[in-house]
Parts: sequence; C-alpha cells; structure tokens
Amino acid sequence: MKRRFVLVAMAAVMTLSLTACGGGSGDGGSSTDSGSGSESGEAGSEVANKDKPLVWFNRQPSNSSTGELDMTALNFNENTYYVGFDANQGAELQGTMVKDYIEANIDTIDRNGDGVIGYVLAIGDIGHNDSIARTRGVRSALGTGVEADGGVNSDPIGTNTDGSATAVQDGTLEINGTSYTVRELASQEMKNSAGATWDAATAGNAIGTWSSSFGDQIDIVVSNNDGMGMSMFNAWSKDQEVPTFGYDANADAVAAIAEGYGGTISQHADVQAYLTLRVLRNALDGVDIDTGIGTADEAGNVLSDDVYVYNADERSYYALNVAVTADNYQDFTDSTKVYEPVSKQLDESSSPVKSVWLNIYNASDNFLSSTYQPLLEKYDDLLNLNVEYIGGDGQTESNITNRLGNPGQYDAFAINMVKTDNAASYTSILSQ
Ligand code: BGC
Repeated sequence: MKRRFVLVAMAAVMTLSLTACGGGSGDGGSSTDSGSGSESGEAGSEVANKDKPLVWFNRQPSNSSTGELDMTALNFNENTYYVGFDANQGAELQGTMVKDYIEANIDTIDRNGDGVIGYVLAIGDIGHNDSIARTRGVRSALGTGVEADGGVNSDPIGTNTDGSATAVQDGTLEINGTSYTVRELASQEMKNSAGATWDAATAGNAIGTWSSSFGDQIDIVVSNNDGMGMSMFNAWSKDQEVPTFGYDANADAVAAIAEGYGGTISQHADVQAYLTLRVLRNALDGVDIDTGIGTADEAGNVLSDDVYVYNADERSYYALNVAVTADNYQDFTDSTKVYEPVSKQLDESSSPVKSVWLNIYNASDNFLSSTYQPLLEKYDDLLNLNVEYIGGDGQTESNITNRLGNPGQYDAFAINMVKTDNAASYTSILSQ
C-alpha cells in the first residue's frame, strides 16, 4: 500500500524495523515490500504470534499423496482459514469445455483422419489437489479415466502411442451418430530439474518431444494451467492450429483465445485475493468473519453466493470457477481488475493500518505472479493492510521460512506453501 499512512513520528521505529526486515528478507529470492512491516506502529505488540490471524491460500494444507486435509494446520488457531477455489467444480468445467469443443469442431478436429482424437496433457504437480482434480476432470469428461482408490487415476502416463497404458483407457465419444476414439497420447508432470512444479519451460520442451513423436496424431493440447498451456501454445500449437486448453484465465491466455487458444477457466482470482486479505482484516478488527463477505460491511462490500462458498468444517473459502472461451473471453481480458462488488475503501478509523507477512511460493509462477499478486496489491490498499510480499523459489520451504525470521513484527500472516504437506514448517515458527 502507499506510503500515505507513514507517520513522521514513526521514523525512528521504522529505521529500526527496516534494519531487522533487511536481515530477514535479503537472503536470496525476491521480496517486494509495499511498506515496512511496522508502519502501523504497533505491529504484534501484545498478541503472541501463535494467536495472530493466519490464512493459507492457493495450496491447501493436505497430504500430497492422499489429498486428506491437514485439519491441525487449518485449525492452528481460532483465526485460521484457507482460501482457494472449488477444485472439483472447476475441473469438471475444464473437462466439459474440452469435450464441447471437440463436439462443435468434429469435422475438422481429427487432423490425420484416423478416427482417433489424440490429446496430450501437461500435469502441474502430482501432489497438489488442484492439479489432481484437473487431470481427473479432463479424463472423466473424455472417457479416458480409470477408477483407482475410489477416484479417477490422476497419474501421469508418460507415452501411450498404442493405447495400452493402464492408468488411462481409450474413451469413446458418440458425435452425430459416429463413434470416435479419444486417446491420451502422453502426459507428464512438468517439474524442472531443480524441483519446481507447474514449470512452464518444461512444458514447452515436452511439447517439442511429443510433437516429434506423435506429429499429427495430436489433435488437442490440455494443460493443468495457463502458464504451461501458453508455453506449449507458443512453442508449437499456435502455428499448427491445434487447440490448447489451460486454466487460470491469465491475461496472456485470454488474449490468445483470439489466436486459437481453445479456452481457459477463471478461478475467480479477483474473489480469492480479496478473501485472502479480508479474513485477516476481519480477524484483526475483531468483527464477525462474514463481514464484507456474505454480509455487507459499512462501505458496502459484499460477495454474492454465486462466486464463493464457505465450508465451515474445512475452515475453507472456495471461489467458484467460470469457463472462458471464444464466446465470452472479451469479458475477461483484464485479469487483475478488482471485483467491483468488493472494491470499496475501508475507513481507517474502524480498520486501522495493520501489517501482514505474505509469501508467494514461487515468484516465477505465472498465475500467482501475473494475476494473483497484482490483485492482492490492489486489495491491500482498499483494506488498509501493509503487506510485505515474499517471493519463494518454488523449490524449498526453507527459502521462504528463512524470511519469516521476525514474525513478531507482523500482525497477521498469509501463507502459500511449496508443498501442501509442509504447514508445520510455518506453524512451528509461529508457535515459538
Ligand atoms: C494455479 C496454477 C498455479 C498453482 C500454484 C493453481 O491454483 O491454477 O496455475 O501454478 O496454483 O500453486
């Protein structure tokens, strides 16, 4: 937020705290500070770190093998929440979007006319609930999914030229009285050699390998997100005119729909970024948690129930998703625009300036850096929050936790873990 809240009288305190802050955040990855952590002047003065508001966002504390929620982390204290989006509803939408496209373009989609509609799939992170849901959603809609442990198998298959892979099966789509086979020709987790997942560059390389093996057998490219999807589109599918589908509605992907990108899903980052900071704001103000969410606040901010759901048992807010295709993409071209129903400035007398420590697990993640963080930076002003943004390397938790050296300096925390199993790496610091 802007420096307008800095009081001259705080200059001495600020000098001290900036020194402390520099020690904590200058050791590696990027850190953009939109204001010193102490501009509120009383950051963390009386409240113990373990009792300060905490929001997990984008990566839900959960077991990366089973998906089971980590309720210890979600109940860390009475002001702990998760903010994400409805992964299953979005995944189903993504699958349906691809299937609808095939049906509408059946006359031209089968590039080599062999009666098999072939697709390749870029997987983000095999241990991330959102990624798992999207892989399942696409396989379910196209009939290529195979049941495993009560859900559709979401494992990458490597390559599957002849349809013999066991983690998927050939699907069948009946379109206009004709039966077409759908085959997942290849899928892979896009993880780079340093360990970063959802890696766009890895996806760009993979499409090179896949296209030289499969050539015109590839009729469709599907990706768990737009970062990887756009990398494949730019490297290959745009020139080949092969429809490519992603997720996130990043601005570059939405713009690419005009050039043949097949479509994407908006996970309503404008609502999520608001909720991420709003739950902290409400906890800091000691008001009902629903304020400015389901119940209008004094400024008139309120969300309608068609854009989010709250699950009290899971302590989680989930934004709802919307498909973005050639039919409606014009409405989504600015992915960093605040959501109008929650765009009103809070009054500083009832919501005084507070400081928040917030990390982005990977400063190079396309969605988080090009869509989510710019939105957070707009909402932090509206909500009178001084947020220090820490950008991680996407590989190790310690790269981030090293920069949480002085939690006493902040009033609240917003955490985006590298790996969903690792909540304790953060809560142990706050509990000290
Ligand atoms: C987004 C991905 C992003 C991931 C990071 C997902 O919700 O869709 O684009 O890479 O979060 O955790």
